[in-house]
Amino acid sequence: MNWEKKILCIGAGYVGGPTMSVIADRCPQYKVTVVDINADRIAAWNSAQLPIYEPGLEQVVERARGRNLFFSTDIDAGIAEANIIFVSVNTPTKTFGHGAGYASDLQYLEKTARHILAVSEEPKIVVEKSTLPVRTAEAMQRILDSNDKGIHFEILSNPEFLAEGTAINDLENPDRVLIGASETPEGQAALQEVIDIYANWVPRDRILTTNVWSSELSKLTANAFLAQRVSSINAVSAICEATGANVDEVAFAIGQDSRIGPKFLKASVGFGGSCFKKDILNLVYLCRHFNLPEAAEYWEWVVRMNEWQKHRFTKRILTTMFNSIAGKRIAVFGFAFKADTGDTRETPALTVVRDLLDEHALPVITDPQAIPEAKNDLADVLDLVEFTEDPYESVKGAHAIVICTEWQHFKELDYQKIYDSMEKPAFIFDGRNILDHQKLYEIGFEVTPVGKAGYSRL
Ligand SMILES: NC(=O)c1ccc[n+]([C@@H]2O[C@H](COP(=O)([O-])OP(=O)(O)OC[C@H]3O[C@@H](n4cnc5c(N)ncnc54)[C@H](O)[C@@H]3O)[C@@H](O)[C@H]2O)c1
Repeated sequence: MNWEKKILCIGAGYVGGPTMSVIADRCPQYKVTVVDINADRIAAWNSAQLPIYEPGLEQVVERARGRNLFFSTDIDAGIAEANIIFVSVNTPTKTFGHGAGYASDLQYLEKTARHILAVSEEPKIVVEKSTLPVRTAEAMQRILDSNDKGIHFEILSNPEFLAEGTAINDLENPDRVLIGASETPEGQAALQEVIDIYANWVPRDRILTTNVWSSELSKLTANAFLAQRVSSINAVSAICEATGANVDEVAFAIGQDSRIGPKFLKASVGFGGSCFKKDILNLVYLCRHFNLPEAAEYWEWVVRMNEWQKHRFTKRILTTMFNSIAGKRIAVFGFAFKADTGDTRETPALTVVRDLLDEHALPVITDPQAIPEAKNDLADVLDLVEFTEDPYESVKGAHAIVICTEWQHFKELDYQKIYDSMEKPAFIFDGRNILDHQKLYEIGFEVTPVGKAGYSRL
């Protein structure tokens, strides 16, 4: 087959898998291969049970897999034949050495660069898709330039802005695609090659081009801004609880200002996910590195507010339930960090469950997608926690329900039936403000939302 381009993606995770599936779906003229060192993950991508849950993903994969979309563990062959290599490996927070707890751990990225270097016999375009500290492309370039084969590698930055839970829609209809390239003729030629991919389905005015450093930094700061909005409204939620104001009303009033806008102003138990915390901490690290301690501290508070909000939520559970939850069964509704994903990385539910365990409560976790991940996350305390996919099972004999994830499914349950099977008084702590609190109160529940007055007879 005479493919117009051969595209490789290294890293078949939450970003690499969906992103490449959509490219392959939209561009049948390209061969798209996704490789990973994790053989189980690749086997799952090649099976009917995909390794990640994402609405709409299955259909996209089914259309393209085996036609022009391939998942493989043969990284060497993939590198050798590709013209364009996207690198979408994980870039977690460093847990050791200099910068531990803040800086990005770039070992996976560096290994990938060395792998590309070792296998390549001809020039390639290497596209950073992972979220990276500003000026990482410079280090990549140095590694890739250290070859005596006379091969030129052009490094571009193309950070991914998809949100888990809505990844397919975000990829098919992105607000923008950002591509950073160097201003050299080679950089501009490579830029055009990557623009050509997205231009197959993204309107040209949504494909933004910048220099490499702006592109790298835009991703980190976009996440910092998003998380900052959550921490801001969560800070407001605490003032609302103290004063009798209602955070939903305040958020609506704030969001009507067209300069602010309504999105990302939902008070909750806190944000989670693999990116916000790590990207902000990385930004903090960069600010310190460039001797900007005030900027570092400013951004660090976004994360500290989030930690505070999570613990504040569990403290409210404790005080509302007469300062004693030891030995009480508590149903935790949702363990995924958000709805429509099975991803539990940095999920607020984990903090809540660990806080409950500290108080010797008996948590029962229910989630439609995240039970296997929840079991991994709580591997050290498996004998102290129960798991079930059935919410009705989780509430039997429970003293309280704690909503941690905004699954639509939780809104549609029969709360009269649930109430009937619980101990009394039956408490609901709605960490996502998704339920009809008045109705729950009428059934008999004691209801505690976030950032507004609850409903109580006690
Ligand atoms: N998850 C998101 O919502 C999201 C959104 C935008 C950007 N990002 C960024 O994208 C990057 C990837 O995130 P993710 O959520 O897909 O991570 P992930 O952990 O789900 O996937 C990364 C994959 O890379 C593989 N890998 C690591 N080293 C490798 C190597 N040397 N060779 C081949 N494969 C290797 C791992 O086995 C893993 O399967 C991160 O930098 C992240 O910050 C994530």
